[in-house]
Amino acid sequence: MAGSSHSAVVHPGSNRNNELRSTALEETLGSVEGMLSKLSHTLGCKAPALARRTHSVVHLASSTTSAKYAKQPLSSSEVYAREEKYGAHNYHPLPVALARGEGVHVWDVEGRRYFDFLSAYSAVNQGHCHPKIIAALTEQASRLTLTSRAFYNDVLGEYEEFITSLFGYQKVLPMNTGVEGGETACKLARKWAYKVKGVPKYNAKIIFAQGNFWGRTMAAISSSTDPSSYDGFGPFMPGFELIPYNDIPALERALQDQNVAAFMVEPIQGEAGVVVPDAGYLTKVRELCTQHNVLFIADEVQTGLARTGRRLAVDHESVRPDLVILGKALSGGVYPVSAVLCDDEVMLTIRPGEHGSTYGGNPLACRVAMAALEVLEEEQLAENAEEMGKLLRAELMKLPSDIVTTIRGKGLLNAIVIKETKDYNAWKVCLRLRDSGLLAKPTHGDIIRLAPPLIIKEDEVRECVDIIQKTILSF
Ligand SMILES: Cc1ncc(COP(=O)(O)O)c(C=O)c1O
Repeated sequence: MAGSSHSAVVHPGSNRNNELRSTALEETLGSVEGMLSKLSHTLGCKAPALARRTHSVVHLASSTTSAKYAKQPLSSSEVYAREEKYGAHNYHPLPVALARGEGVHVWDVEGRRYFDFLSAYSAVNQGHCHPKIIAALTEQASRLTLTSRAFYNDVLGEYEEFITSLFGYQKVLPMNTGVEGGETACKLARKWAYKVKGVPKYNAKIIFAQGNFWGRTMAAISSSTDPSSYDGFGPFMPGFELIPYNDIPALERALQDQNVAAFMVEPIQGEAGVVVPDAGYLTKVRELCTQHNVLFIADEVQTGLARTGRRLAVDHESVRPDLVILGKALSGGVYPVSAVLCDDEVMLTIRPGEHGSTYGGNPLACRVAMAALEVLEEEQLAENAEEMGKLLRAELMKLPSDIVTTIRGKGLLNAIVIKETKDYNAWKVCLRLRDSGLLAKPTHGDIIRLAPPLIIKEDEVRECVDIIQKTILSF
């Protein structure tokens, strides 16, 4: 099976000549292999040099095939079919096959242009292919990309100084994906509980809010209340407890337990459908955590980096968490970069060899992250998100309330909740939005998240509002 898979000649766009050439090649290879195996059997040994040469022929055939694909772009339906056939079915994408992005726009393989109202789940806050970030990426990529942390590199320290000064924390621990940031924060909280707080070994608890989403690892799904995240994947991580979101009395009760190390919470729950807590919630969380000597971990992977109209969403209440997790837009969507920020009392509980990642803190990631953060500041994207978000919500509020029941959000992290009927749901609305040139993704059956890149301008917001209004009224 593996020996013939390189040909991929069954692709709908394939051409018969290449197919024949490839099949002939496979037959030749088959007989060469047969001869080799007979020879090695006769000689009582293997023929490694010959076997290696056979391998490189297979590679040649494979690159001939990919060169053919490069010349002949696939149609959207061919793109869907290929992913369906060869990829795991762990996503349900909206049917649109994208090939290019610039600023607030993306283009599909047939050249149709769309406004991107998802921004890769808030990773592309700076807009697609931001020239400054791409320049940082390409410049560093041709110099030094990865050393691992077995050695020092000349960019990591510069990045560490830059990001800790910007956010006002003593230390940073660099990782790659958002979920690794969450894992890192949980490990730090447990270590701190044993080394500093004095929780008896392996009794530490971390409290989460119902409806949370922080990724797909075993730990992350162990705190999930969404069956599609956790069902079928047990047994789960012990020492995790759940309380309702936006419920201060519940937090107060949970914190009575001396073994609680941390409360990890999103300032606005993104994946749950942009659930905004009451004003004052984060302030109260801060007070209670301080009072009970519990770490306040803010998961700002989606809400952070200007998305909600402030550099961090906790800045809306001028609250300083003990740990902040960043990801997604920390690279402007060009590379997986995440980070945990905290002070020495917590960070230095982890000693060399106790945590890390091969790619975490690599020079390429560090350069990209510095450029991505600079763009947020230089282009005042938090301010723009605040202003454009107000405009977007004000305009969408004009939609009839019997169809759109709620408009909520902060900055440019917003959701509309529609009244579901048997022929009207969020998925169908998103399909029709796509046909009108705007891409958004439904969460649950009735919620559509609206989160464009933060560089969006007023006339573009107005044009998009017009598309959304017309689409919703077209049913
Ligand atoms: C709040 C929050 N935390 C963590 C994550 C996980 O990030 P990643 O998918 O990069 O692992 C996400 C992803 O959507 C998120 O929304």
